[in-house]
Amino acid sequence: MLALGRLGAQVMINYRGNQAAAEATLEQLLGQGGSGQIYPFDVAREDQVEEAVKKIVDQHQKVDILVNNAGITSDNLLVRLKAEDWDQVLGVNLRGTVHCTKAVCRGMIRERYGRIVNMASVVGQTGNAGQSAYAASKAGIIGFTKAMARELASRGITVNAVAPGFIETEMTARLSTKLQEEFLRSIPMGRFGSCEEVAEAVSFLVGPGASYMTGQVISVNGGLFM
Ligand SMILES: NC(=O)c1ccc[n+]([C@@H]2O[C@H](COP(=O)([O-])OP(=O)(O)OC[C@H]3O[C@@H](n4cnc5c(N)ncnc54)[C@H](O)[C@@H]3O)[C@@H](O)[C@H]2O)c1
Repeated sequence: MLALGRLGAQVMINYRGNQAAAEATLEQLLGQGGSGQIYPFDVAREDQVEEAVKKIVDQHQKVDILVNNAGITSDNLLVRLKAEDWDQVLGVNLRGTVHCTKAVCRGMIRERYGRIVNMASVVGQTGNAGQSAYAASKAGIIGFTKAMARELASRGITVNAVAPGFIETEMTARLSTKLQEEFLRSIPMGRFGSCEEVAEAVSFLVGPGASYMTGQVISVNGGLFM
């Protein structure tokens, strides 16, 4: 969000749960001379997504860029995974991406311009034991990205995905030290990635340098998957 702000975008920050983190991000954004607002809504709820996008468009006329970043995990072996946990992960990660894309793309089609970036994961490319729901949601996002890229290319809208590897965030901080060490051994670059390194790929995809790129998956993973 900060990187998008540096590109001159007015950034609408969505979150669910951690209000303090969203407020801190907005403060940083304003502090670096950017502009933006917070719009909390649940991406898994189509009604909330449509209402929020309507408010944003009423206030700012249009949405040029959509970054579908919201994501959750619910890790367990399939035999122990509850149906409601599966539904929740698919609901936020995949259906959330679908709801947000659908809500903004009508306006983008009218404007004949749009940049959509979907947050996939290396796990959607390789699979991972104990992460069947997460892997399915992220592989689904990759397929959805390519389908939308084909649907929207003639309207001036590009749709790409970023597939991060192991990035240092709250999500990965929850993993045990043992698991973190195991991951580290399998990364050729020998370190975890940072949010800024993922943001660089997103900035590239929404900027002028990627004007002829659509339907692509950019891996930001230190060589974890090639
Ligand atoms: N951290 C990694 O190593 C890693 C690797 C690959 C992909 N990713 C993906 O990157 C994205 C960001 O992950 P992160 O590591 O920053 O995780 P995080 O848990 O730190 O942040 C997740 C974000 O999603 C938001 N969110 C969750 N459920 C939501 C909902 N229903 N509606 C609206 N917002 C919701 C949260 O408010 C939070 O801002 C996710 O899509 C994740 O799957 C992360």
